[in-house]
Amino acid sequence: MGSQPVNRERAGRITRNGTRTATRAHPVALAERLELNSSLDKPIRRLTQAIHKILPPGPLRNTLHGVQFGHPVHAPLTDLPIGAYCSVALLDLFPGTQRASRILLTAGLVSNVPTALTGLADWSSLHREQQRVGLGHALLMGATNLLFGASLLARTRGDHFAGRTLSLLGLTTMMAGSYLGGHLAFRQAVGANHSPPVTHLIPLGWHDLCALEELPDGWPVHRSLGYIDLFVLRLGDEVRVLSDTCSHLAGPLHQGRVTRVHDEICVVCPWHGSTFRVDDGSVVDGPATSRQPAFDTRISETGIVQIRPM
Ligand code: FES
Repeated sequence: MGSQPVNRERAGRITRNGTRTATRAHPVALAERLELNSSLDKPIRRLTQAIHKILPPGPLRNTLHGVQFGHPVHAPLTDLPIGAYCSVALLDLFPGTQRASRILLTAGLVSNVPTALTGLADWSSLHREQQRVGLGHALLMGATNLLFGASLLARTRGDHFAGRTLSLLGLTTMMAGSYLGGHLAFRQAVGANHSPPVTHLIPLGWHDLCALEELPDGWPVHRSLGYIDLFVLRLGDEVRVLSDTCSHLAGPLHQGRVTRVHDEICVVCPWHGSTFRVDDGSVVDGPATSRQPAFDTRISETGIVQIRPM
């Protein structure tokens, strides 16, 4: 491969020993500094192991990831506590709104339970740099809930000045935590589909892929169609083809394990264990929530495997 241009904004400064450091005093540079902070790795490893122990792969974890919905559910759930807490801060500008504020604070704290659980489930299946930023996000959001919880207590006791002050502090940590949430989603592409549909990238009709003979039976291999990477699995005289890039975080599916789930042949991603049916690319187990693009296949009279997007 030729030398790649260096994205200086993303890369930061390269030190003598080759490690990368963030350079600017800018919010995004602070977030990048967090990405590079390896001192967080030990607690992250322990917390990840604990989450995986409490939440083994299965229906509950799939629900927390949002497999049944086809989208991650953590991000939309955050609207509930964030909306409630922002509304409290707005109501504090007007007299006679204490009861409404207490109701909103209670709603924010309660709705934070599923929000935090879905976030922890997603966080436990991320890359190292994403987990470091995610830990900062979780700590700030945890502090936000403590501050708004303390605000509710103060208001219930009748100390409205303390209640308003604690809400304002909570609003500050919430903004910082939300910024890191945005960094995770928009800079580090957490929750995005890393294997979008490919139909528009391929001319209509059938395309020659390779000779059936050159494919090992029952063993997935990598092939390319133009610049699209493909997972190719021969099953006797039939062939299954999916996009090779895992929709969760772009793991190489052809390096995954082929297995049977409920009598259907599936592939398990080698990076975080997402499981896809090889027939149509649909998700059996998360953390992935988006299906893999799948291809129709046929064998020509001359023994060539031909494919077209489903
Ligand atoms: S990249 Fe995470 S499960 Fe495939």
